[in-house]
Amino acid sequence: MNISIFGLGYVGAVSLACLARDGHKVIGVDIDQAKLDLIRSGKTPVVEEGMVELMQQVVASGLVSVTDDVKEALSNSDISLICVGTPSAPNGSQDQSAMLKLAQQAGAAMRGKSSPHIFVFRSTLVPGTVEDLLSPIIENSSGKREGVDFFCCFQPEFLREGSSIKDYDRPPFTIVGCNHSYPEEQLRDLFGHLPCEFYTSSVRAAEMVKYCCNNFHALKITFANEIGRLCESFDIDPFQVMDLVCRDTQLNISRAYLRPGYAFGGSCLPKDLRATLYLAKQRDVELPMHVGLMASNKVHLDHAIQKVLATGSRKVGMVGLSFKTGTDDLRESPLVTLAEQLVGKGVQLLIYDPEVHLSRLLGANRRFIEQQLPHIGELIRESIEEVLDDSEVLVIGMLTSDITAKLEMLVTEKHCLIDLVGIPDRDSLRGRVEGLCW
Ligand SMILES: NC(=O)c1ccc[n+]([C@@H]2O[C@H](COP(=O)([O-])OP(=O)(O)OC[C@H]3O[C@@H](n4cnc5c(N)ncnc54)[C@H](O)[C@@H]3O)[C@@H](O)[C@H]2O)c1
Repeated sequence: MNISIFGLGYVGAVSLACLARDGHKVIGVDIDQAKLDLIRSGKTPVVEEGMVELMQQVVASGLVSVTDDVKEALSNSDISLICVGTPSAPNGSQDQSAMLKLAQQAGAAMRGKSSPHIFVFRSTLVPGTVEDLLSPIIENSSGKREGVDFFCCFQPEFLREGSSIKDYDRPPFTIVGCNHSYPEEQLRDLFGHLPCEFYTSSVRAAEMVKYCCNNFHALKITFANEIGRLCESFDIDPFQVMDLVCRDTQLNISRAYLRPGYAFGGSCLPKDLRATLYLAKQRDVELPMHVGLMASNKVHLDHAIQKVLATGSRKVGMVGLSFKTGTDDLRESPLVTLAEQLVGKGVQLLIYDPEVHLSRLLGANRRFIEQQLPHIGELIRESIEEVLDDSEVLVIGMLTSDITAKLEMLVTEKHCLIDLVGIPDRDSLRGRVEGLCW
């Protein structure tokens, strides 16, 4: 393919070298003459393992050229990878000035081009940038239409400095956010040979994935370091602890607990987190990330309350009360907190949970509800029908196949469902469904 690469820093220079190595004709574009001169003479503008030899080899092959002329680069390529820098502005926002300027120049350069062109944004960009800013800028300055004369995609880059050639050849996955099949096919041709899955998504989701991945890495490093500090205060070997933690690939290093849903609660997580925080306090160990977990969980719970209240209805039913499906354990159930808060706000509430029947509750659970939540106990009904009949809003806090079947049968257009669980087939329900954060 004929490819132009804008921005010859770590991402752009490595991509240029690897694409030329794979037989593509590549034009590199940068505003930094020193970088252009280095590449022209077969030298690498970035220090990276393997780049000295690779750059020498690809420049000698004649497949690489460089320029600072945007028009020349676009006229001689069908696809452009945009890798200019997007650093932090002093206030923490993303400084997109280089990207915006380039979009303007690229649009102007597109005026004279008759064949369709693909812009693949590989710089990290805050969600919405491609569709809301860059694509309109190119449309305005070119007088052409996105999706017809040119195409904009976002393909997050996952290489790491220090091992970037290896990472280019072995990425965790390829993700292409695009709205049309033509650029997708072209990018499959370009990157489909890599030994990883090729996924497509909306442009905004692809932009978001890049942030999620980096923030997840930051979260993991911080978690391991906080555990390290806590272990140090107990003279425990943190490497042994974290090594064992990572050996659980069922619940720890897995997809488990990584699906957006409702707040955490129950008989273990809150109490163990509290005990951890107390231990740390006793030993003067600061664990700001762990402290933040409780605060964040409360924000999520408040978000659910606001969603329910925002419906404007005061006739609310709740499906689910225990802290998770299949148990009658009510201790620290975030659904109990939600019920209490709604009652406190004057909502007329009814509750159904197939596992929670006052007549059958025993021991600690019965005592808990009689002593702590007598007002909630009175709201529990024996069947979902009783709850649905008297509710306009239905909070779905749990789902079983029985409940799904009942909802499909009994929910009518007058019902609004607040979905806390991610109902799989929400379109099959007659009522309006509002997800908690989806
Ligand atoms: N460095 C990494 O490991 C890495 C990994 C993944 C993603 N990213 C993202 O990729 C993007 C690029 O990162 P980088 O580290 O390669 O940046 P960099 O700062 O090393 O290089 C950016 C290059 O863009 C050039 N440039 C600026 N304006 C230009 C214009 N109008 N036309 C042409 N070139 C222009 C600069 O001169 C510079 O050479 C950033 O958004 C970054 O967040 C970086």
